Amino acid sequence: MEVSTSILSVKPEEAVHTFYDIEVAKSDYFHIDVMDGKFVKPDTKLFMKESIQTIKNISNIPIDVHLMVEDADFFVNEYLPYMPAYITVHYESFKSKNQLLKVIDKIKENGSKVGISIKPETEIEAIKEFLPIINLVLVMSVEPGYGGQKFKEETLYKIKKLNEYREEVNLDYYIEVDGGINLEIARKVETAGGDIIVVGSAIIESKDKKELMKKLKNI
Ligand code: DX5
Ligand code: ZN
Repeated sequence: MEVSTSILSVKPEEAVHTFYDIEVAKSDYFHIDVMDGKFVKPDTKLFMKESIQTIKNISNIPIDVHLMVEDADFFVNEYLPYMPAYITVHYESFKSKNQLLKVIDKIKENGSKVGISIKPETEIEAIKEFLPIINLVLVMSVEPGYGGQKFKEETLYKIKKLNEYREEVNLDYYIEVDGGINLEIARKVETAGGDIIVVGSAIIESKDKKELMKKLKNI
């Protein structure tokens, strides 16, 4: 299992120290949760902008940007210069299919891989037509917004369906799952067919990040 550590619950005053801990623990990605305070609450724009700059200065670990914003195009322009491994946008934030297709193209043309994220209440049928042209589906297992929420078990079914579908039609998008994940939940996500888990508070609050990371990556 690959682990993308969410920095949402990092305490700003301990940020650099925590980023080093995540680096030393060898997280596969830093997960940057950009929220505009409109598409979802709270507003994390400033902290995430400062954090990606700090992380780029101290680490080579790939960056996984999760945009929970109304104006995805604006924030794609803001984050592309940092050359993130992934930029993921929310299906629900687009008013038209063409608008989403344009943003997918822009991300791919600028060398990042593109993901589409769906909220818990959004069915996978809504994004099926985009699956052949994207690299990753981010299945939200909590309502986007705050870290530390409880994992919604019903999302395991979505992961299973996405896994079956990609085998059925021979597609190679990754399945990333985000929200409320700890060691026990991570095992269920892996069984359902998930490839990457986003883990925030379980790692950030862990006494031994290195030990927990090792267990999570070995699932
Ligand atoms: C919530 C964010 C998640 C979340 C993960 O909207 O997208 O990345 O912060 O944090 P935990 O693991 O604390 O749920
Ligand atoms: Zn996230």
